[in-house]
Amino acid sequence: MKNKNIGVFDSGVGGLTVVKRLIELLPNENIIYFGDTARVPYGPRSNSTILRYALQDINFLKSQDIKIIIAACGTVSSVFFKNNINNFYFKDFFFTGIIEMAAKKAVAITKNKNIGIIGTKATIKSKSYETYIKNLDSKIKTYSVACPLFVSIIEENLFNNRIDITNKIIDLYLKDLKKSNIDTLILGCTHYPLIKDLILNYFDNKIKIVDPGVEIAKFTKSYLTQNNLINNNINKNNIKFFVSDSVDNFKNIAKSFLNIDLINQVRLINLENLENADKNFYPRPS
Ligand code: DGL
Repeated sequence: MKNKNIGVFDSGVGGLTVVKRLIELLPNENIIYFGDTARVPYGPRSNSTILRYALQDINFLKSQDIKIIIAACGTVSSVFFKNNINNFYFKDFFFTGIIEMAAKKAVAITKNKNIGIIGTKATIKSKSYETYIKNLDSKIKTYSVACPLFVSIIEENLFNNRIDITNKIIDLYLKDLKKSNIDTLILGCTHYPLIKDLILNYFDNKIKIVDPGVEIAKFTKSYLTQNNLINNNINKNNIKFFVSDSVDNFKNIAKSFLNIDLINQVRLINLENLENADKNFYPRPS
């Protein structure tokens, strides 16, 4: 069991921000990453579509000899959170999203009890982070903003090539939030840490940022340790990447962000197979 893989998925490159933190904290674990690049973005879609896609992604990872699956995606985690899916579906393996860990961290570090949350439309609509934060401390005020274009800028690598455009879009979405009194900001979508420095700069470095990747990696390490599941392999991480489309874009971003040369390491999986495998898969909640 210890030598099995950690399965990680997202709609695209966003989950790499989680992989980066897993590599730092768990250098001997083997990771299978799936980025559903054929169907990115998930954020503007309906709950039932997001749920269907996510369950198909999980179904694929389940076939990869995994010991734990991480939804490295705020959108999927939010839809699951809202529908209380985790306990309902996943009995035969350990599954986790990212909401609780990021919310807990924000509550722990805010001094003035004003927390900003940015995420995709589905995440913000679900009120997942907000609900969790208010359960922990009802006195905290939250300010939530959906930033749908951030994912496209990142998937298109514009944040590296056209910082001017990226800064304009940051201003478009975050102008009002900047006027609020937040001292802590949750990057509620795993794509956003890729533009973390630009966001921090926009807030004149005056706020603290919560990166869900950092929190979920810490959580994963403690879960594996407590359950005696840490891989005792002496080799460095073996990471396999799978995508459902556009291998090149994925490779470029992964190469610059993770510092790994991914030539020949990214495999394309057939979306039709993914969808067909879903035919008799998990019942949907009504
Ligand atoms: N990285 C994802 C998230 O954390 C998905 C964004 C999207 O596909 O819209 O929300």
